[in-house]
Amino acid sequence: MNFTIPKQLGRFLVTGGAGFIGSHLVDNLLAAGAERVVVVDDFNDYYDPRTKWQNIAAHLGNTRFRLEAADIRDRDRLNKLARDERFDCIVHLAARAGVRPSLTEARLYQDVNIGGTLHLLEMARQQNCRHFVFASSSSVYGPTAAPPFREDAPLMPISPYAATKAAGELMAHTFTHLYGIHAVCLRFFTVYGARQRPDLAIHKFARSIAARQPIPVFGDGSTLRDYTYIDDIQQGLAGAIRYTAEGATPFEVVNLGESQCISLNRLISVLEQALGEKAILHRQPEQPGDLPLTHADISKARRLFGYAPDTAIEDGIANFVSWMRWRDHKAQAA
Ligand SMILES: NC(=O)c1ccc[n+]([C@@H]2O[C@H](COP(=O)([O-])OP(=O)(O)OC[C@H]3O[C@@H](n4cnc5c(N)ncnc54)[C@H](O)[C@@H]3O)[C@@H](O)[C@H]2O)c1
Repeated sequence: MNFTIPKQLGRFLVTGGAGFIGSHLVDNLLAAGAERVVVVDDFNDYYDPRTKWQNIAAHLGNTRFRLEAADIRDRDRLNKLARDERFDCIVHLAARAGVRPSLTEARLYQDVNIGGTLHLLEMARQQNCRHFVFASSSSVYGPTAAPPFREDAPLMPISPYAATKAAGELMAHTFTHLYGIHAVCLRFFTVYGARQRPDLAIHKFARSIAARQPIPVFGDGSTLRDYTYIDDIQQGLAGAIRYTAEGATPFEVVNLGESQCISLNRLISVLEQALGEKAILHRQPEQPGDLPLTHADISKARRLFGYAPDTAIEDGIANFVSWMRWRDHKAQAA
């Protein structure tokens, strides 16, 4: 994987850096020679916080790494951190990330995903940190977007989660306009791979199939998703970081997908093959807030970042299953 950072950016703040995507980014930034990587993460219990501690355990003794176990809603803590550290680039990944729980916890999503994002943008402004990367989502497109989704399609969120991500993009645009912060908002399309969140379908299904438990299948299995492998997302994150430093425009919204559409039924059969087990299907009605289809047009990412995702779903799932088995084996041995 091609992960390089520009020379002028040495000091990074990664919010949500103990999570799935964030912890891979921290690994890659440190491996690429970043001078300082500070993680802000609140280790909340949306899923087992021990998983998040494991994700970053390898770096806890690294003098180039600092962990700030803090909530991005806590402005005083962020202000204190901003007095202690100077950042060249903020990569803001912390969020309440599930679509379905956002239907019952809209206020929490608003507070963390909109209020928290505003705090990070304010920190960038106060610090004169001009490079900002924000994790947005394919969910901002809504159910009527024409595939493949292009970044200039109208924003049509149908869940509180999606609405908070759309709001984050707009806030980032506002700060670019007012204060000259160079921002790239990345619309991630369902990311998977080692350390994937346990609430996401691939992880949930793989565990249940391996344990010969039924898996909940919403709808008839014809829904289509653009599943993006974690290494490809990291390549895109590196591209976005470089773009904030060297790109020609101060604000961009960019899709990061694999640009392959996989039906839920096909995903299940790829998982069955990798696990060597037949899935037991528990059919359920489609869920409100879920999109019937996601499909990224990635021509902009190719053009701006040289983004070139190249992981076939069969290979990515095989890697994921190997990781899951390795982790289970380690847990049993402990
Ligand atoms: N994984 C995907 O498929 C996907 C798709 C689209 C967008 N995204 C976005 O990418 C980002 C990372 O997602 P992920 O899958 O790695 O999720 P994750 O839950 O594994 O990581 C998010 C991290 O943010 C932390 N966090 C949450 N609320 C916080 C708060 N108030 N203060 C400080 N830290 C907080 C969590 O503890 C967690 O470690 C999120 O913004 C998510 O919305 C992810």
